[in-house]
Amino acid sequence: MLAINPFKGGFGAEVSGIDVAAPLDDEACAAVCRELLDHIVLVIPAQSLTARQLAAFCARFGPITRHILDQYHHPETGEICIISNVADGGAGRTTAKPAGSYWHADLSYLPEPAEATFLYALEVPAEGGDTLFADMYRAYETLPEATKARIAGLNATHHIFGGRGDDAKVVLDEAQRAKTPEVIHPVVRRHPETGRTVLFVNPGFTRRIVELDEDESAAVLAELFAHATQPAFHYRHIWRPGQIVACDNRASIHTATGGYTAAARRTLWRSFVGGRYAA
Ligand code: SIN
Repeated sequence: MLAINPFKGGFGAEVSGIDVAAPLDDEACAAVCRELLDHIVLVIPAQSLTARQLAAFCARFGPITRHILDQYHHPETGEICIISNVADGGAGRTTAKPAGSYWHADLSYLPEPAEATFLYALEVPAEGGDTLFADMYRAYETLPEATKARIAGLNATHHIFGGRGDDAKVVLDEAQRAKTPEVIHPVVRRHPETGRTVLFVNPGFTRRIVELDEDESAAVLAELFAHATQPAFHYRHIWRPGQIVACDNRASIHTATGGYTAAARRTLWRSFVGGRYAA
């Protein structure tokens, strides 16, 4: 029996009573979807999964998008990618900063960004390694009215190397570069399922507001990023092994926070579902 425990003082909820390794019936799947739409971030504790089991669970929520960085695909299935600082096993990242340690919406540099992201923790440091999420509904809703009017109807370019955090990103090979041309998304969009308005720019991948000159674009984006990433809109997730964290990637941005030593082991598996996000 599914039980929901909303977190206090912000957003996010824990979902218990679910065994992700077992096939999820339609009713349970619909209930999890509803909770994800309501709470933006869902934490499902105490799971013990193979990569294929995790992929099968994620696929119940939509078509899986395989990550462009295929060198980090799980050896058993490309539907799961590995985020790890651990060199053994061959999937360890070698970037100066931890993978994903810049505010971003997953895959906003693609024509069809992820709708939801699922992260599953295998090993986590005793200290540090948290993930921060920010609520992009609230970010939009609390903007000054003058800013809302200024950004209405504007579009922005997104690119995998479009914004901040390049020291936490791996260099692409030629084939990967060819798959990631700059794309354009509206700065403000309507969430296709909740109908609520969200701010859809992020420091990691948003490069430029198309309709503004370069200086104006930089100033407006700086204002939007500072506003959207303020602590008032955060949920901080402190990981435990066996947890799945799902986020509605249409209504949030997130960042890894680092803060652990090179000797500490941190390995997550990740999957994205999406492909149906019409602007
Ligand atoms: C991500 O950006 O998807 C990874 C977040 C994390 O490793 O904490």
